[in-house]
Amino acid sequence: MKPDHGPLIYEGKAKRIFSTANPDQVLVHFKNDATAFNAQKHQEFDGKGALNCQISSAIFEMLKAEGVPTHYLGLISEDWLLAQKVDVIPLEVVIRNVATGSLCRETPINEGIELSPPLLDLYYKDDQLGDPLLTEARLKLLQLITSDQRKGIESLARRVNELLTSFFLNIDLLLVDFKLELGVNCEGQLLIADEISPDTCRIWDKRNLDSEARILDKDRFRKGLGGLTEGYGQILKRIQGV
Ligand code: TMP
Repeated sequence: MKPDHGPLIYEGKAKRIFSTANPDQVLVHFKNDATAFNAQKHQEFDGKGALNCQISSAIFEMLKAEGVPTHYLGLISEDWLLAQKVDVIPLEVVIRNVATGSLCRETPINEGIELSPPLLDLYYKDDQLGDPLLTEARLKLLQLITSDQRKGIESLARRVNELLTSFFLNIDLLLVDFKLELGVNCEGQLLIADEISPDTCRIWDKRNLDSEARILDKDRFRKGLGGLTEGYGQILKRIQGV
């Protein structure tokens, strides 16, 4: 169901953001597009937007109940959310509990080893630059955030990791790694923004030991394994207790 909305503010690879009658709120539409490798690979999947929207909504509800500030205001329909309008900070915060993905492509660290404490990295959010990994010195040079904001972002991300890890563990899912984006609302408050979904998390099924069959997230598309919406559907079913 498509709600009444104002003009399009921003179109990303997986979502569109529309203005509303309230200048501090936006409507977020989740698209069916999946992209990987900086959009070099692209495909549409019927139902993907609705699955990601409902999974994100359930996660934001859980974070809200735990007192974590997010932009989420409510689920409008299966593929539309209402959110606070934020200025997005052009950083991607990635937390890894288990080594895989770019960490293993770019370093000699072995696939599958547990990372304790979890590894936290900041990337500069810019598709044209390929979202480069930032060093401490480059982050300072960019002056995107103050050192207090950086401490706040890191402790918020680590708290989200703890909450999400146990949320998923309760339904036999392993949170391997995930990406967060942050924004600042009209009152200057730092909030978790964007989405938290199988597009932005790696999630493995603890009920399945097969190294490919256990993958329930966007790696199914990145690795050409098929069954993307089935994987996302399995996550939503477990969240809903079906
Ligand atoms: P990576 O191993 O490819 O660096 O990905 C780390 C995590 O970040 C993984 O959960 C997928 C997520 N991610 C995004 O949400 N967006 C992106 O553009 C990339 C590259 C990764």
